[in-house]
Amino acid sequence: MILPVLHDGPAAEVDADVLAVFVAKGEDGVQPGADATQLGETLGLDLAAECKALGCDGGAGSVARIPTRGGIAARLLLIVGLGSDPDVHALRKAAGTAARKTEKDGRLALVVPSDLVARADGPARAQAVAEGAGLGAYAYTAYRSKDHDQPSPSGLAIVPGLELSGELEAAVATAAVLVEVTCLARDLVNTPPAQKRPPQLAERIAELAREAGVAVTVLDTEALEEGRFGGILGVGRGSSAPPRLVELVYEPDQATGHVALIGKGITFDSGGLSLKPSGSMVTMKCDMSGAAAVAAAVLACERLQVKTKVTGLLALAENMPSGDATRVSDVLTHRDGTTVEVMNTDAEGRLVMADALAYAAESEPDAMIDVATLTGAQIVALGESISALMGTDDDLVAELEAAAEATGERLWRLPLPEDYADALKSSVADLKNIGRKGEAGTIVAGLFLKAFTAERPWAHLDIAGPAFSERDDGALVGKGGTGVPVRTLLRYLQSRG
Ligand code: BES
Ligand code: ZN
Ligand code: ZN
Repeated sequence: MILPVLHDGPAAEVDADVLAVFVAKGEDGVQPGADATQLGETLGLDLAAECKALGCDGGAGSVARIPTRGGIAARLLLIVGLGSDPDVHALRKAAGTAARKTEKDGRLALVVPSDLVARADGPARAQAVAEGAGLGAYAYTAYRSKDHDQPSPSGLAIVPGLELSGELEAAVATAAVLVEVTCLARDLVNTPPAQKRPPQLAERIAELAREAGVAVTVLDTEALEEGRFGGILGVGRGSSAPPRLVELVYEPDQATGHVALIGKGITFDSGGLSLKPSGSMVTMKCDMSGAAAVAAAVLACERLQVKTKVTGLLALAENMPSGDATRVSDVLTHRDGTTVEVMNTDAEGRLVMADALAYAAESEPDAMIDVATLTGAQIVALGESISALMGTDDDLVAELEAAAEATGERLWRLPLPEDYADALKSSVADLKNIGRKGEAGTIVAGLFLKAFTAERPWAHLDIAGPAFSERDDGALVGKGGTGVPVRTLLRYLQSRG
């Protein structure tokens, strides 16, 4: 991972291989801002004419590569389009495009446009450029054995393009932290499932927590039995690698409140005895994305000066079939005593989350937010880039919506109608773990979780689609783990003051 750093000095002198500047799309051709125009003048070029000749119209995703022939320190000038009505989201994306298009070119420097993005101040623009470049530059290289096969720029400098201020420096520093932990979540998701079975993943996260000064407790099989975590144990029992519950606690001095974050951490979801077809298993190393996001968020709290106490609970298990796996029609008893008849072992996420939610509620936090790749139905309803949001507390839901609006990680609220919970009635136990096939699967799963929240203020994010991308969007997100919704969780925690 390459983190953005702030450069102090004029753009023409920055020591980099590529200098990227942004342009908007105008009525006829590109519309360069003040900084781009000035660089053009330094190089003796009419930028608008140059872009036209090179087929760059300033639209989102369009670029032009212009050799500088010694006119400025960087050897290449990259013009990057923002589209016709640029906002910070367009700027973040365009910075990602710049990083992606220059991954083989060495060190990249990006000029924060001083005037092109209306309705945003300098620090917000600098943060968007730094975030976008850092996220776009990400590549998962842990298993590439050949050096030449290692994409991504080798440096990222953010050139202010405006007067350097403390606020601007803080904005780039914030972006660097957000990039670092989002990429950590991506790394965890991209790790092959044999290398992140629950005990190993728990240990990896515990080590990062110790380094970050976050208190960590790992509950092993014995502790889970002692604590009556029947859901986590029931899902994990088919695997030769036992389940774990990881508890992370960030507690600042004079904390202003307490938020619990709960993440689904199925390190591989084969479906269990209700085995998935092999095609549906291909992406199932991503089924711990909720836990990865929660861990990444808690690890960043101190550096982002979050004022609230934050508990992170990661419910880790591997869902496998075996001679001792949980059977269809078995009954599990959860942490809070609720019994559940398992009518489909592939609906395992809600079983591990039920225990973790019930446990979280015991400490009576002011808010509980869970994050889970819970249902394939979420992808049917909202697709691969909009997460489903549900919740029992309208203020909490609104705060999460506002946070997501700021980060560009899209989400959409679904209702939790009480009568839909009838589908979860069991003739044997308190509940069963599936509803009626093809009927509001995402909502019904949300209602199942709600039964374990002890009526605390609670919100639920189903990220089944957004957690993992099967396409490279050429800007912020490559193939694999996306790191959603790390930035939104952190924005929310910061906004709590
Ligand atoms: N991990 C899956 C959900 C999922 C699907 C995540 C696709 C990411 C991409 C979850 O455990 C699951 O299998 N859910 C079942 C529930 C059903 C059996 C009620 C599903 O959605 O099919
Ligand atoms: Zn499943
Ligand atoms: Zn799953």
